[in-house]
Amino acid sequence: MKILGTGSALPKKVVKNDDLAAFLDTNDEWISTRTGIRERRVLSDETLQSLAERAGKAALENAGVAPEEIDYVLVTTVQAETMSPALACDIQNAIGLKCMGMDINGGCTGFIAALAVAEGLIASGRAKKILIVSAEALSRFADWTDRSTCVLFGDAAGAAVVGEGEGIKDIRFASEPRRDVLCASTPPGNSPFAVDPAPAQYLKMQGQEVYKFAVSHSFRDIREMLAYHDLQPEDIDFYVLHQANMRILEAVRTRLKVDEGCFPHNIERTGNTSSATIPVLLDELNRAGKLKPGCRVILNAFGAGLCTGTAYLEL
Ligand code: ACO
Repeated sequence: MKILGTGSALPKKVVKNDDLAAFLDTNDEWISTRTGIRERRVLSDETLQSLAERAGKAALENAGVAPEEIDYVLVTTVQAETMSPALACDIQNAIGLKCMGMDINGGCTGFIAALAVAEGLIASGRAKKILIVSAEALSRFADWTDRSTCVLFGDAAGAAVVGEGEGIKDIRFASEPRRDVLCASTPPGNSPFAVDPAPAQYLKMQGQEVYKFAVSHSFRDIREMLAYHDLQPEDIDFYVLHQANMRILEAVRTRLKVDEGCFPHNIERTGNTSSATIPVLLDELNRAGKLKPGCRVILNAFGAGLCTGTAYLEL
């Protein structure tokens, strides 16, 4: 399987760190030095569905693939527009797709999870071309009264068209059940039979625990991937990592001992957009002409679960 084209869409509303300081006990200096984030895009009068549609259409155009050529659409999201139907079904009309669609909730590793599902569908001969759209509205997920979490997140959609080819060399996952450090719950419903249903809860996170997990596991997983393919860290052109915190990116980069240019980032402009961070960054690199044939790329994400995903691509 290989990536045939990419697309992305960001909401028009820009929220700068100073805008948050207007209603939270925070400031630009704290947010930018601890996270690298200077601004994020947040949904206002747009819908998550409209972002997903824009990103999906852009990826099809970039790939030069017609909507009717797509055999499956896979959407990754931690919270779609509705719990049912899936966002993958809702975006089909606007994009002009006539195929099966389903949502995947893989947390921040969602895009890499979708690559793995797509690889299986293509390898089994059930599909030739698949559209993956990672669409996230973390502004609906976060508690905007909690300065320790809401300042981190933004909304975005990133997309890729994948098809038969030799580009994606390997995809791996790891998981360590740790609900205690990162968790958001769904509404409890009103079943008269439920005993003591837990109330709905916004995202709660023990930031330092997630930070330690992210640095140690991303480094470990990347190193294992490189070793398995007999590669040195400097053999990779781009490490496209989940954009959660600039300090996490820097910690992984310095452990790998590679140049800053190998670790592209856009977190300063987007914040953490969960599974959308990797395809949005891939699309920015692609449109800047940086993803050249023969380029070696490592994708790596970590998130709720806790889980990690790593992919090795040769373009
Ligand atoms: N503004 C000002 N002060 C703040 C803010 C804020 N926005 N948030 C917290 N503080 C305060 C705390 O209250 C604390 O004050 P205290 O010392 O008086 O108690 C102080 O700053 C330090 O807080 P820490 O939580 O220790 O700060 P830390 O250096 O760990 O940074 C952060 C917090 C940025 C969340 C960091 O731990 C982190 O990035 N962790 C990883 C989180 C992550 O990657 N999550 C992504 C996974 S989920 C997903 O991707 C969807």
